[in-house]
Amino acid sequence: MFPSNQWYVAGWDCEIDRAPMARTICGEPIVLYRKFDRTVVALRDACPHRLLPLSMGIKEGDNIRCRYHGLLINGEGFAVEMPIKTERVHKSVCTKAYPVAERHRFVWVWIGEPEKADAALIPDFWPCSHPDWTFDGGYYPIKCDFRLVIDNLMDLTHETYVHQGSIGQADILEAPITTHSDGNRVVVTRWMPNIDAPPFWRNALKREGPVDRWQICHYVAPSSVIIDVGVAPVSAGATVEKHDQGVRGFVIDAMTPESETTTHYFWGMARNFDVDDTGFTARFKRQQGEVFLEDVEVLEAQQRSIASNPSLRLKAFSIDTGGIRARQVIERLSAPE
Ligand code: FES
Ligand SMILES: [Fe+2]
Repeated sequence: MFPSNQWYVAGWDCEIDRAPMARTICGEPIVLYRKFDRTVVALRDACPHRLLPLSMGIKEGDNIRCRYHGLLINGEGFAVEMPIKTERVHKSVCTKAYPVAERHRFVWVWIGEPEKADAALIPDFWPCSHPDWTFDGGYYPIKCDFRLVIDNLMDLTHETYVHQGSIGQADILEAPITTHSDGNRVVVTRWMPNIDAPPFWRNALKREGPVDRWQICHYVAPSSVIIDVGVAPVSAGATVEKHDQGVRGFVIDAMTPESETTTHYFWGMARNFDVDDTGFTARFKRQQGEVFLEDVEVLEAQQRSIASNPSLRLKAFSIDTGGIRARQVIERLSAPE
């Protein structure tokens, strides 16, 4: 159903604290919390006794006590005390513990076979943790299939209509796009040479004059899209391969499936300009949140329409090539090994 043996974003690093937090990932109910040493614990959110969610339990140090009959479970998922305290604990009384890693401001969990978890496979969100960059963002639960969000982000022609009142610009439709894929990677590139910078980018660049502008959407398996955006003065000679000459941002989108028709959407923007301007960071996050709510409205309506029209199929036009290729990767990764 979902690619397994993959790392998924379980939450922002700041969302997860000492108190247990419930979050269903790829259909698996998980409880997350931090130990005193700040490391994150992720356990199947079901008491091994009668399956009450452990997230309803009571923290005791680094352990969690089930709120039904008081079984005490440690951070590795093993029972350490039975409801009758004098009874011996057997190691078969346990709940699944998920491999967890904290990287690039997110907490990631490994869904699949724990012995295959390798931190080197965590998607490379480097701009989110690079010292020369600033990163912030938010979280929306969306009532739609995570693949619909990927389709949306791999095809920015929707900006013109969905974001008519905010970031939509007709000239985006005029620039040609190219789609390239290789293995699990899909890249949709829109290069806009020698144009007038829109106000946002002119302010970021802090100078007048024609610019080269780019929007490069990278699908990152299994369920993220990173969009490389920015402008550089034409005189700087930026190219599709190398464009660090101006101002640059990465729109970060991690879509963690909750169920087949619901998604945890973690979004944000990393940038390499005005990095110490915390006011800018806060204003931008608010604006980005408003723009993304326009997508949420459309995506949830699309999902409802899909459900009400079971005999109809999604059609793909040329603009959908990026999303279609990403779906092919997802299908391949979802196949049993
Ligand atoms: S259901 Fe958890 S101890 Fe009984
Ligand atoms: Fe959008």
